[in-house]
Amino acid sequence: MGSRIVATGRALPRTALSNKDLERYMDTSDEWIKSRTGINQRYAIRQGESLAEIATTASRIALERAGLKASELDAIIVGTVSSEYAFPSFACQIQHQLGISSIPAFDVAAACSGFIYAISVADSQMRAGDFKRVLVVGADALSTMVDWNDRRTAVLFGDGAGAVVMVTTPGNRGVLSSLLRSSGEHWHLLSVRATGVRSTIDSEVRRCADDAIQMKGPELFKIAVKSMEEVSRLVAERAGVKLDEIDLFVPHQANMRIITAVADRLGMPHEKVFTNIDRFGNTSAASVPIALDEAIEQGRIHDNSIVMLNACGGGLTWGANLIRW
Ligand SMILES: CC(C)(COP(=O)(O)OP(=O)(O)OC[C@H]1O[C@@H](n2cnc3c(N)ncnc32)[C@H](O)[C@@H]1OP(=O)(O)O)[C@@H](O)C(=O)NCCC(=O)NCCS
Repeated sequence: MGSRIVATGRALPRTALSNKDLERYMDTSDEWIKSRTGINQRYAIRQGESLAEIATTASRIALERAGLKASELDAIIVGTVSSEYAFPSFACQIQHQLGISSIPAFDVAAACSGFIYAISVADSQMRAGDFKRVLVVGADALSTMVDWNDRRTAVLFGDGAGAVVMVTTPGNRGVLSSLLRSSGEHWHLLSVRATGVRSTIDSEVRRCADDAIQMKGPELFKIAVKSMEEVSRLVAERAGVKLDEIDLFVPHQANMRIITAVADRLGMPHEKVFTNIDRFGNTSAASVPIALDEAIEQGRIHDNSIVMLNACGGGLTWGANLIRW
């Protein structure tokens, strides 16, 4: 018995910020951001908005499309590093908003790789017979953790949530293989302290620079390309699938240049690579499920399509899931 995704959903904060908007906050330019990252705009949470509510909206959409009631779920697993509370978990907050109880609800903290990790955990527990119907969410709000004076990081991140409903399935459809990797030795390339105020772009309080996201961009860039290429090859090999049999590659949307470099190294034609970084920026654990939801909406995924999901993020963590739709 395996597991497959039967429905997806996404939800975003109300405010879209263009590169031009950011020019008002820091010394940057639309031209620099577009050419170095591929980003045109991102959504950012404002005062009074709640990421848990946004993630619950994405979850409700996915549940409705799956034709399932929240009460029929066996578990909720969330990839996030953005909970407003150290505890309860973000998954418990979604569970509460969905009005259900008793089932296990827990978070997986793997930064931008959180959704890939959560899919792997859900798939393993479903194969083990623990659950039949699981809500898997990727949600983050890294815009609340940046130093809005630091142009090297603040322009990259956006907020949002994506959700999928997974069910057990017999036969050879669904998650074919997953592979997860971490290297704690590189933790300092991308980190943020657990302390610090939640600072939205419109709030008066500001994170002090030491409490904001610290990133060594150029070093991270090289490791991201290498690790995402490597894990993609390995996860395909593990499933006995050749790279040219993959119909759609849905990578973490960190930087257009990273995506292109990984695709080129894998020999993946660009028309098989799904991107939406231009409109969302890097939404961390939300990026892959948001992209997946849009790819389905745009008719890019059909029954039996072979789809590769992969990501790399703080930890460092990286990983991939290979799915026959
Ligand atoms: C962050 C990143 C876009 C920077 O691009 P880069 O080409 O490596 O640029 P550098 O950091 O070398 O900076 C080049 C110049 O642009 C400037 N610059 C940086 N950010 C800028 C911005 N937003 N606007 C204008 N100029 C900027 C720098 O100050 C530097 O100028 P200098 O040479 O006068 O000091 C890139 O390294 C990257 O994407 N890294 C991976 C980050 C990532 O994906 N993180 C999340 C992983 S999940």
